[in-house]
Amino acid sequence: MPREAVPDLKTYLAEKRAIVDTALHDYFPEPEGLTSDLTEAMRYSLFAGGKRLRPILCIAGAEAVGGSGKEVLPVACALELIHTYSLIHDDLPLMDDDDFRRGQPTNHRVFGEPIALLAGDGLLTEAFSLMTSPGISVRIPPHILLKAIRLIAQAAGHEGMVGGQAVDIQWEGKKADLPVVNFMHTHKTGALITASVASGAVLGGADESQLRAITSYGEKIGLAFQISDDILDIEGDTQTMGKRAGADEEKGKMTYPAVLGLNESKKIQSELVETAVQGLWEFGSRAEPLRQIARYIIERKK
Ligand code: IPE
Ligand code: IPE
Ligand code: MG
Ligand code: MG
Ligand code: MG
Repeated sequence: MPREAVPDLKTYLAEKRAIVDTALHDYFPEPEGLTSDLTEAMRYSLFAGGKRLRPILCIAGAEAVGGSGKEVLPVACALELIHTYSLIHDDLPLMDDDDFRRGQPTNHRVFGEPIALLAGDGLLTEAFSLMTSPGISVRIPPHILLKAIRLIAQAAGHEGMVGGQAVDIQWEGKKADLPVVNFMHTHKTGALITASVASGAVLGGADESQLRAITSYGEKIGLAFQISDDILDIEGDTQTMGKRAGADEEKGKMTYPAVLGLNESKKIQSELVETAVQGLWEFGSRAEPLRQIARYIIERKK
């Protein structure tokens, strides 16, 4: 893509978000029948207005290696389903016990805990159905699609996000520790963010060296994203974020600022973003959205 054709980040994010939202609406028809409460609960959290960062990273990852963002759309949407499930479960009383998410009451506050739990299960499972649907499997060679799906499965499961969430809960109220918080952040949040951009690159036709570079970018911005989430919990505004600020300290969460303080945390997130951006040199202007997304991650207010 010639340099002048790269839109500014705000336009880029708005355009991609609209594409993702339209596709998600197509995949989720109106609830009906005996399971309508369940599908209503799934739709409630999905369409509550998330940033759609993970699907956008998947699209941008494909485009950075010369692939088509449109072709990866089912996988991009599946990543949002997995992420949304993780938020519903993260908010449950037996986890973070939060009442406000994406600017609305949390899923269990509206539908009750059993349906919220099942809505999360339903979203997670539907993600894998979507990634293997004819819409994508007729366009992408099976070995490439399988590679992307496996990468996402490992990032979402016990070796990735679920493992990080377990450590997060088990270390609540314990003494701050840098190796533990690093493990927690790279797993509970970094893994799925890395898999988002890396799966896009795989589906877009990345070779092994390109995939290594994109994965390394993902790991750095993934950690920076959770550090900035921790910082926003201290400095952010509840209305703007659509979720309650100040909750981490109350719950004794092990966060970057709790371990290293705010200033050091801010320094580290900036360094991570700068190294992430530098690592994309070989991709030229096609990776411009990825560079801008990296900077946005630590400048965002929500
Ligand atoms: C929040 O993720 C949960 C974390 C992993 C920190 P986002 O900040 O991407 O939430 P949405 O999708 O925009 O609601
Ligand atoms: C959540 O981390 C990570 C996942 C949902 C996997 P947090 O618990 O910090 O996320 P928020 O702050 O509730 O969004
Ligand atoms: Mg949590
Ligand atoms: Mg939480
Ligand atoms: Mg948080």
